[in-house]
Amino acid sequence: PRHFAIVPAAGSGSRMGAVRPKQYLPLLGRPLIHHALATLCAAPAIDKVFVVLSVDDAEWARHDWSALGSKLVPLFCGGATRADSVLGGLRAIADEAAQSDWVLVHDAARPCLASWHIDKLIRELAGEEVGGLLAVPVADTLKRADEQRHVVETVARDSLWQAQTPQMFRYVMLRRALETAREVTDEASAIEMAGLRPRLVQGDATNLKVTYPLDLHLAEWILHNRRG
Ligand code: C5P
Repeated sequence: PRHFAIVPAAGSGSRMGAVRPKQYLPLLGRPLIHHALATLCAAPAIDKVFVVLSVDDAEWARHDWSALGSKLVPLFCGGATRADSVLGGLRAIADEAAQSDWVLVHDAARPCLASWHIDKLIRELAGEEVGGLLAVPVADTLKRADEQRHVVETVARDSLWQAQTPQMFRYVMLRRALETAREVTDEASAIEMAGLRPRLVQGDATNLKVTYPLDLHLAEWILHNRRG
């Protein structure tokens, strides 16, 4: 089977408090999204990298993506939610993707994706029927609280993981799952709702999601020290 990457990048980034969508915030002299796209395009196992942009995205065309080569394909078919954007991407590549081809969905907001993350994910899931995702074991003790913030219980963390991306599933299963479950925050939840069981592949904390301004500084530090 072939491997296609889909990068949803049609969000507005309102939690960053920035006017600009976060995928275009500058990070080491490049738009934030450039970093993950470069890693995906450089991965020998990945055949093509589709970026799903908002239909009214005005910024993509202002940057130079030529260094990323011919694997990169922008699609202006983003939706109202992340799941809609991914589904739009899946529909757009229907002619190209066979049912059992793999789709790796990666957040534009995770710039520190490393080549070993991709290699490990593909290697460990190669024999799986459904697919799975990168994840890290939860390190903190977790508390559930009531509305007054009094602790109701301590949640045993031993079997808890934080979901990351890429999340890698068979084309047809992912498309069917997302067509049924639209209100999900990641692809794995849609797959679970379809009664299937994604497998976790242990990644690491460097693959962080840029949500708040501090995350941008952490991402810069991680990328800078990886290069140096
Ligand atoms: O907002 P959040 O950090 O959860 O967004 C995760 C990813 O989903 C980002 O890459 C964002 O651009 C993308 N997204 C999208 N379409 C939306 C909302 C979010 O492609 N409507």
